[in-house]
Amino acid sequence: MQTITVKGSTGRSQILVGGRLADLSNYLPDARVVIITDEVVAGLYRDQFPEGDVITIGCGERNKTLETIAAIFEKLIELEADRSTFIVGIGGGIVGDITGFAASTYMRGLRFGFVATTLLAQVDASVGGKNGVNFKGYKNMVGVFNQPEFVIADIDLLKTLPPSEIACGLAEIVKHACISDKNYFDFIENQCRAIERLDHEVMLRLVYESVKIKAGVVNQDEKEAGRRRILNFGHTIGHALEKTTQVSHGQAISLGMVMAANLSNRKGLLHQSEVQRINSLLDRLNLPVETEFDRKTVFEALKKDKKRQRSHIHFILLNHLGSAIIEDIRIKELEDWILYGDA
Ligand SMILES: NC(=O)c1ccc[n+]([C@@H]2O[C@H](COP(=O)([O-])OP(=O)(O)OC[C@H]3O[C@@H](n4cnc5c(N)ncnc54)[C@H](O)[C@@H]3O)[C@@H](O)[C@H]2O)c1
Repeated sequence: MQTITVKGSTGRSQILVGGRLADLSNYLPDARVVIITDEVVAGLYRDQFPEGDVITIGCGERNKTLETIAAIFEKLIELEADRSTFIVGIGGGIVGDITGFAASTYMRGLRFGFVATTLLAQVDASVGGKNGVNFKGYKNMVGVFNQPEFVIADIDLLKTLPPSEIACGLAEIVKHACISDKNYFDFIENQCRAIERLDHEVMLRLVYESVKIKAGVVNQDEKEAGRRRILNFGHTIGHALEKTTQVSHGQAISLGMVMAANLSNRKGLLHQSEVQRINSLLDRLNLPVETEFDRKTVFEALKKDKKRQRSHIHFILLNHLGSAIIEDIRIKELEDWILYGDA
């Protein structure tokens, strides 16, 4: 097991890469424990949970709401949870985001930790201290920055994940390599087959490298005032595609990265051969690299992006593989590119 530390303003978070759900009780304080999980994870892994009360939420983005938080508060009151109670979220990114928010706000904040059970949660969602819920159709609109005390990334849990969920995590993994580590990109290229069969050592290395990259960025800029924005590579267009088409989150991010790489090339930054390498890697990982979409609808969704500053959008481009820059691009330029250009 390897440990990576996120140093947040609310405390340190130890990310235990290769830790095990079955060993969770070793990381818990000597306190009352309440576990928050979802129906699927409870069905698969409840026998590995330590002693403690369990609150089970429904699956899917539609449950990532203030109503679910209120239901958790009611349950915590019923269970007579108090300031000394420790909360553990066992699940994917949704369970993590909800657990972190509920734990951070119930009685002004309880201690909490996560067991990340999806690849996306292990390499992305559980790292960095963003917790929250969707509100009125806006994703992650309400929430807090607060670091979990620990995150256990148990690689063995990935075996039961559907391929579409693995793909979501892989899209973020490729993103990490693109924005900050060319050697990591080379490694992924060389391990596509091992990744396909979820080879334990290779998956361990992917989770480790990705957590290291994300933790490194968060340690420089926890609240996303600057550098942390590079983690949005592929996400600006990706989110607009996710909102307006039928593609999943992972597929949307893959398509968003292809488009952002093309734009980087168009602006004279990323070499065409590197654009091609990104496309081909995503394709080999069974992620989409092209799709039909209604350009006007996607552009309208993009305009509503949270990263928008009046007439500009913070857009993440690549200089070359392993190096990202944040560029303020005029909305008008993006409109011309998406509506009439080669986007
Ligand atoms: N906080 C952050 O920084 C951050 C970053 C990225 C994404 N997110 C959020 O994460 C969420 C997506 O997370 P996700 O992709 O993990 O989705 P998820 O939590 O919905 O999990 C996906 C599905 O897999 C199931 N599942 C979980 N673990 C499993 C396992 N080991 N085996 C089989 N099935 C399992 C879940 O029950 C669920 O049905 C989004 O809401 C997104 O906004 C947050």
